[in-house]
Amino acid sequence: MVVPNPSSSAILPSYSYSSLPDAADSDAGAPANRRRVLLLSGLVTIVTLVASATYIGLVSRWDSELPEAIKHQRPPPLTLPRGVAEGVSTKSHGLRLGVASFPWTNRMLTWQRTSFHFQPKINWMNDPNGPLYYKGWYHFFYQYNPEGAVWGNIVWGHSVSTDLIHWRHLPIAMTYDQWYDSNGVWTGSATLLPNGDLVMLYTGSTNQTVQVQNLAYPADPSDPLLIDWVKYPKNPVLVPPPGIDIHDFRDPTTAWLTSEGKWRITIGSKINKTGISLVYETMDFKNFELLEGVLHAVPGTGMWECVDFYPVSTSGENGLDTSMKGSGVKHVVKASFDDDRNDYYSLGTYDEETAVWHPDDPKLDVGLGLRYDYGKFYASKTFFDVEKKRRVLWGWIPETDSELADIQKGWASLQAVPRTVVFDRKTGSNVLQWPVVEVEKLRTKSWQFSNVVVQPGSVLPLDVGKKTSQLDIMAEFELDQEALNRVNETDEMFSCSTAGGAANRGALGPFGLLVLADESLSEQTPIYFYVAKGAEGKLKTFFCADESRSSKATDVMKPIYGSTVPVLKGEKFSMRILVDHSIVESFAQRGRTCITSRIYPTKAIYEDAKIFLFNNATEANIIASLKIWQMDSAYIHSYPTELIM
Ligand SMILES: *[C@@H]1O[C@H](CO)[C@@H](O)[C@H](O)[C@H]1NC(C)=O
Ligand SMILES: *[C@@H]1O[C@H](CO)[C@@H](O)[C@H](O)[C@H]1NC(C)=O
Ligand SMILES: *[C@@H]1O[C@H](CO)[C@@H](O)[C@H](O)[C@H]1NC(C)=O
Ligand SMILES: *[C@@H]1O[C@H](CO)[C@@H](O)[C@H](O)[C@H]1NC(C)=O
Repeated sequence: MVVPNPSSSAILPSYSYSSLPDAADSDAGAPANRRRVLLLSGLVTIVTLVASATYIGLVSRWDSELPEAIKHQRPPPLTLPRGVAEGVSTKSHGLRLGVASFPWTNRMLTWQRTSFHFQPKINWMNDPNGPLYYKGWYHFFYQYNPEGAVWGNIVWGHSVSTDLIHWRHLPIAMTYDQWYDSNGVWTGSATLLPNGDLVMLYTGSTNQTVQVQNLAYPADPSDPLLIDWVKYPKNPVLVPPPGIDIHDFRDPTTAWLTSEGKWRITIGSKINKTGISLVYETMDFKNFELLEGVLHAVPGTGMWECVDFYPVSTSGENGLDTSMKGSGVKHVVKASFDDDRNDYYSLGTYDEETAVWHPDDPKLDVGLGLRYDYGKFYASKTFFDVEKKRRVLWGWIPETDSELADIQKGWASLQAVPRTVVFDRKTGSNVLQWPVVEVEKLRTKSWQFSNVVVQPGSVLPLDVGKKTSQLDIMAEFELDQEALNRVNETDEMFSCSTAGGAANRGALGPFGLLVLADESLSEQTPIYFYVAKGAEGKLKTFFCADESRSSKATDVMKPIYGSTVPVLKGEKFSMRILVDHSIVESFAQRGRTCITSRIYPTKAIYEDAKIFLFNNATEANIIASLKIWQMDSAYIHSYPTELIM
């Protein structure tokens, strides 16, 4: 794809943003999380000002335990649409006009809180930021609103773990205390240099809502917990280049090395409706040069946020360091599309000489082909885990209930269980995502069901005890071969989202599991396969999640998600489902196709949540074998309530 060179003012609008002088530098360079003065511009609403003032009065230091301290002092909910004025579209879908809010009880809302997914203690969270492994700890930073359960006042929350499952919350790492990030400390990435130095690049929204890139580093690199952060006194290190709108320049990636020993990063943007990713080169993370052309561009895809760019091995099991290249390596480009809030990826080849990436298959280019996840999963970011030699993917899982309910429950959003990402050497055309192996440490009591025959049109309860809101389910299905042969061409135009869900019976599907279902199936969420048969008997398999009957509440989204999944010769249909209260993560064929659902039942909760096997195919029996574990809760607690180390 040839696109205009964004640095060429011949083709592009001549607009150019110049950085402000170093005016505000005088008190920069101090540890960011000790800063107490909040610089708020006139663009920040009065509501926020009042909220912040309350907040400063209550909390003497950023590193006291914020959530507890302000738990009962949360500012009144913001009623204006947030985000647009700050230069990003609003992060939550809100409540549709005219939809009455459901009378949620505390019992229902309490059940929604998850037990082994990463969440701050209270309030709003969005994008994962700067994940890395450092001196024995996995660090996780995240976009966080310390003041409420809706988007706004964004700072970097921070937690550490030794296994990616059990977490300790640390003090806020960076807050909006400089002119170049006074509208928010937005998304960024970590780069670990070969000499052990750690640099963090992040987007700041300035006092004039210009998106700029800033540099930060640990105040004490010998501190394994990386508690204190310093912002580089001469920030910003990058401002929007000519031709790039001041609101379309965000989320720098982890840097990778060139053969000449220079570092490159890429940053998402757009020109008109073409989504692009700019490439910069640097030696010191302070001075950058914009390279000609772009890493990649796809017309019609709109703003690319949170671009991720990394190598995968085509020959080995291990993940690769971000700087790896050469034979046996493909490169993934992932972009989060601001227009539709999905994470699209594509596999291809990176040409170091030109700093351009080419998709293996133009029909599967970024945005045209594959998604990490066909449910809710956005703004994701990978890191190379140097300890376990794997590439780990973090993804933000938004809510699909109303903001009013979020405010009532006091929190909003989750992170998916971190997933390892590898190239799928069997298909050669996708990655495989799989929950990190450490989550299996939470498995407790298990049940096994072998070769259960499920007749067309039947539903079978699976007795797995009473704790059915926390499960890890592995299931394999075989379709009756005789029926497969007998059935004529069928369902060639099938699609999960338009075919009416699991209530639409076809010859060879749907079949799978009902999770978070009550005894009478008045609430149920089918996770299922659906097989279509094309000309010459070719089978095409779909993997879907039908939320349409997941809740009696009217003020939650209830879509039907899904896509195709490759099922190779000799393979059974296999799925894994992690159920954790209001989140269900589903993986087909070892992670070729994934679907994350947020589900808010009103009856199928606590001991009334059950699971069932079902087969709604009209022509075929299925044979199912399952292993199901109850899952323990992870330890996710606050510092300094618990002692660190
Ligand atoms: C933003 O901050 C800069 C540097 O302190 C200052 O010169 C400028 O007047 C500020 N602009 C607004 C709108 O506050
Ligand atoms: C963007 O759209 C404007 C208005 O349609 C057009 O004049 C301009 O040439 C476009 N820019 C690029 C780089 O295509
Ligand atoms: C398949 O098509 C043939 C010919 O049209 C028809 O006789 C037969 O009943 C069909 N089989 C099924 C299972 O629908
Ligand atoms: C199976 O199909 C029937 C008929 O459409 C429907 O009533 C039933 O709810 C379906 N079962 C599931 C699990 O969706």
